Amino acid sequence: MGNTGAANARVNIVGEHTDYNAGLVLPTLIPPSTMVEVRARTDRRVTLRSDAQNDAAEASLDERIPRRDWSDYVIGVADVLLRRGLELRGFDAVIRSTIPSSAGLASSAALCVASARALRDAFRLALDEREIALIAHEAEDRFVGAHVGLMDQLVCAIGREGNALFIDIRDHETRDLPLGAVDIAVIDSGIRHDNAAGEYNVRRHECEDAAQALGLQTLRDVRDVDALARLDPTLQRRARHVVTENDRVRRAVDALERGDVAALGTIVNLSHESLRDDFDVSVPPIDAIVAAAQRDPDVYGARITGAGFGGSVLVLARPGTGRAAAERVVKATSGRVVVP
Ligand code: GLA
Repeated sequence: MGNTGAANARVNIVGEHTDYNAGLVLPTLIPPSTMVEVRARTDRRVTLRSDAQNDAAEASLDERIPRRDWSDYVIGVADVLLRRGLELRGFDAVIRSTIPSSAGLASSAALCVASARALRDAFRLALDEREIALIAHEAEDRFVGAHVGLMDQLVCAIGREGNALFIDIRDHETRDLPLGAVDIAVIDSGIRHDNAAGEYNVRRHECEDAAQALGLQTLRDVRDVDALARLDPTLQRRARHVVTENDRVRRAVDALERGDVAALGTIVNLSHESLRDDFDVSVPPIDAIVAAAQRDPDVYGARITGAGFGGSVLVLARPGTGRAAAERVVKATSGRVVVP
């Protein structure tokens, strides 16, 4: 028997495109998951098999070169562990996953976190869950070359199903908040953007440019939206999304603490508007799914979730109604219910 590491998918409730601006996020874990089973070898070879991708790959610990495919997430984690001076030997790994890829549900972060957990157990490495998150993030950033924020890895490593995880990305302060009386449903639109990574990088740079034009280190440091008036119109809209989204996370935390799920739903709806109109990361078929969900009598709120440009829709519904509500929405529009 090998050592198995697992990690769940995440859905972000509110706080989108704020993490790489040192901002606030509020994701939660959902049932789809990835499992990585690792068997230690006596040599330095690595063999990988992915049931999800129906593919296999081989590498050596001494020659770690990105192949630009799914295997990079696993080799990338081994690469970070070795760079940190930890002792690994070769290994055989099998990957199984129920998380749809490129659906805005953090399949990459889950694969990295599950791989890091399996390697930790197989080679008895002394790593806590926060270190696992940082290793998973470094693997994506450095080896895969996806310059993402830290939200996905942190929630995959330390989040809990049924709780929202408030994270202040600036100082990594976290707080667990029970979700209470609400059903979380997720609809995968099935839409995938060819150049989602490129668009993501453009948004990142726009945020950096806006901060620089304001003489600030990050958009987290903007005190209020009036300060954005001197930016050019596009940068102003991008920055306004980030500033108002951080505020929505604060208000969502208040709503959860009061158990006010209706208020939470309204905040989620406003987040969609901002992502659509100011941050420009939605697409018309997803707007249609969101609008249909927002019209449903059992739904408190709905929005695009994840990086955008396609992907999934989060639906907050009355307890016990999430599945049926999401099925109604899909029937009237498009997509596939993936949670519950
Ligand atoms: C992707 C990234 C995250 C975050 C979101 C947008 O999921 O991996 O770091 O930036 O997009 O909120």
